[in-house]
Formats: sequence, C-alpha cells, structure tokens
Amino acid sequence: MTSELQGNRLFRQQAFIAGVWREASDAEKHPVYDPSTGDIVGETPLCSNEDVLEAISAAHAAQKNWAARTASERASVMKRWHALIVRHREDLSRIMTSEQGKPLYESRLEIDFSAAFVEWYAEEARRVYGDIIPSPLPHRQTLVTKQPVGVTAAVTPWNFPASMIARKVAPALAAGCAMIVKPSEQTPFIALAFAVLAEEAGLPAGLLSVVTGSSPSIVKVITDSAVVRKLSFTGSTEVGQILIRQCADTVMRMSMELGGNAPVIIFEDCDWDAALDGLMALKFRNGGQTCVCANRVFVQNSIRETFTKAFADKAAALKLGRGFDEAVDIGPLIHQAAADGMAAIVARAVEQGAEIVTGGKQPEGPGCFFEPTVLAGVNRDMDVARNEIFGPITPIIGFDDEAEVIAAANDSEFGLASYMYTRDLGRAWRVSDALEYGLVGINEVAISNEVAPFGGVKQSGFGREGSKYGIDEYVEIKYRCMGGLAV
Ligand code: SIN
Repeated sequence: MTSELQGNRLFRQQAFIAGVWREASDAEKHPVYDPSTGDIVGETPLCSNEDVLEAISAAHAAQKNWAARTASERASVMKRWHALIVRHREDLSRIMTSEQGKPLYESRLEIDFSAAFVEWYAEEARRVYGDIIPSPLPHRQTLVTKQPVGVTAAVTPWNFPASMIARKVAPALAAGCAMIVKPSEQTPFIALAFAVLAEEAGLPAGLLSVVTGSSPSIVKVITDSAVVRKLSFTGSTEVGQILIRQCADTVMRMSMELGGNAPVIIFEDCDWDAALDGLMALKFRNGGQTCVCANRVFVQNSIRETFTKAFADKAAALKLGRGFDEAVDIGPLIHQAAADGMAAIVARAVEQGAEIVTGGKQPEGPGCFFEPTVLAGVNRDMDVARNEIFGPITPIIGFDDEAEVIAAANDSEFGLASYMYTRDLGRAWRVSDALEYGLVGINEVAISNEVAPFGGVKQSGFGREGSKYGIDEYVEIKYRCMGGLAV
C-alpha cells in the first residue's frame, strides 16, 4: 500500500462477492502497480470461475426483491450511496490516483462526475414510464410497460475507472437490475471502494458484486451464463468484437462503448483562444488516454502554421509528473508498454514524413511518462491519423475547405466523438449534420455529463450511457394486449 493510502478504510484488497468481502477461493493474487513509480499499490484476488458463478447466482436471488421495491425506495438507497461518494471524495480520488496515475485534480473531477450519475439515475428511477397506445381495433387496450432486464454485468476500463462504473451501475440499479462488475486489473481498488460505500448505503447483499482478476476467464463465465441478460462494456473495439461474438450463443443484450478516432476541426474563423484552450484540455486530459480525446486535429491551412506553433508552446509548458503533486498537469501512462507504444507511434510518423514540433520521447527517470507531443506535416493516410493513439500525441493535418475536411473526418471506421471550432452558425450546423459521429462538440470539448447521451456509431459501438436514454439499456419493453372490454 502506498503512503498516500495509509489507514484508508475504503482501500480493500478483497473481492466483493455475494455481499461478502473475501479472498478468492484459489487464494491467488494479482499485483496492482502505481504507474508513476512502479511501486506496488496492493494486491487483489484472482477470482475463479466458481467465484463468478456464485456472484451471478447471488445477483439472481437479490434482483427480484430489488425490482419489487418501489422506485422511490430504490432511489433512497441510491441517494445515500451518492451522499457517501460525495463525502469520501478525497479518499476516493487518492485511491484512483495511486492506481491510475492521473493528477489528483482530475481524479476529484472524476469522482464528482461519477457521483452525478448516481444522483441523476436515483432521480430517473421514478420516471420509467410506459404508454397506453390507441388500439386500431375496438374493445381492446394496448398497454406498454418497462421491466428490468434482470441480472446484468459490466466490464470497465482503467482510463476512467470510477465514472465508467457509475455510468453503468447507476442506471442498472435504478431500473431494478442487479449487476456484476469486472473492473480492469490495473484499477480494481476504486471499484472496490465504490462497493464499500454501496454496502454502507444499504444496497442488498448480492445485488452488486465486484469480481477481480483476469478479464478473459471471468468475462467468459459471464457471457456463457444463461442467467446474465445484459453485458455493458467500455474498452477497445478489438476486445468489443470478441465479446460481441461471445454473447451470440446466449443472445445476450449488449451496450458497447468502444474505440474512437476523434477529429477536431479548427476553422480559420474560430475564436482562437477558445480553440487553443479547448484543444489543450481535450488532448491532454488523462494523458490523452480517453476514447473521446483529439486524435486528428484538422487546422485550416490559412492559420495552420501559427496555430500549430501556439499549441506546441502551450503543450511544451505542461508539467509532467506524479499525480499527487498538485502542480502537475499531466500524469503517467498506464504502463510501460503504453509509453513504448507512444515512442513507436512517433517513430513511425517521422518515418512517414511527419515532423516533431515538441516532445516525442519518454523523459529520463522512473514511471511510465511520455512528453506532450505535437506532430506537423501529417496527412490523413499516415498510421498516426488512421489509428487510435490513446496517449499525448497530437497530429496536425492541414485542410483547405469544408467539403474536404468533412470527407477526411468521416474517413474512419470509428464514430464516437468529433469537435469543431467555428463562429459561423450555418457552417456549425452543416458540418455537425454531416459528421458520422455519435457526439459532436461545437466550440466546446467538455461534452460528457450525466444528462447527455454518450455513445458512438460504426465501430465505436452501440447503446447510450447517461441521460434519460441510458436507462433504456436496462429495461425490456413489455406489450400487453387487453381484450374482452366490450360490455
Ligand atoms: C472515455 O473516454 O471512455 C469516456 C470519457 C468521457 O466520458 O468523457
């Protein structure tokens, strides 16, 4: 355990299965490292197939009673959970920074973001409405109600290890479902800390389990189960495709939040400062390890050189370091393989004709850091523009006109987030209409929040999280045709 977590009662090195904190049945452990030092933060059990089956059967037993409670009873438990998350914001943030590496100020924002989902869905629990549809035939009524899907599962990533859990668990609980969470091996402790608080809030035993350990074997038990009725996954498109195939045999419902290759289009008429600041925040949040961050930056040729220089100057001034240092702007990447991957991306881009304006290498010293990097002279066919980067590298690509940049932005198998900066209202509407993306930020990059629907198209996945639409992922529509109503 690192010194930052000494005595922290939310820091649990056990799995939470069927309402019990415990070691895995085979007693094997998995170490979790602080990516900024390489030190061990702690160890979690490697849950066995039997542990997962036990979590599933406890969820099955608990779900019926939970669904039978009134929506406002479910909402009360969730509101208590929300209040506990808010109260323990600092401890939760420190746990996240220890295992994920992101600067503390980003961890605090993520805890706030997570709490907002729990509060929002506690409110939405009472608004799962049905319909009465006018019947085309006499003496009948067409009644539509929504029922919980049942037992559900979430497989969550290491880049937003708290909010991706809150965004899935909260709508599931609100709808009356049970959930088994499989957090990333790199960041299990924040998931376990959330479970400590859920238990304290009064969530019934078994309704929420957190199974730790190796993803493929645990997830296979989940996807093979006839009891689990829904899987929600956030992660890479590659893994998503495997899970989609695995879910075919049980015809399991799915939500898939997969990879992105977000274009950011900077037109010559943009508000210069807003575009620069927006791009900085978008590109370097979480060290560039987000599915919605700037992956290809298209800058109109008339301003490209000056804009690139101004952006590179700002990027070079960022302070890289351990997240516990409050002056740090950007933390480490999640592991050394990620930092090595960044070096390989830069080398390949240079080989294909790009020029390093700033950054481009791993700094000396411990930790999985990589310098904020800006590349000029990039074209849309280079590997750096075609693949998701997932790190602090910014390829700048020039363009001349609207039609050209729309075609270039849409030339990707991904379709999650896209952004543009322009002060021309007509252009903002035309371009955002034409972008084949689930999310479009217009003169704004901080677009994720609890009231807005988050999700992609094409190989970025399907389903929506957050907003009034997010709860639809956890309900089934039941149609009752009521006849015999003639006197
Ligand atoms: C993600 O990158 O997976 C989510 C980021 C967000 O919600 O802003």
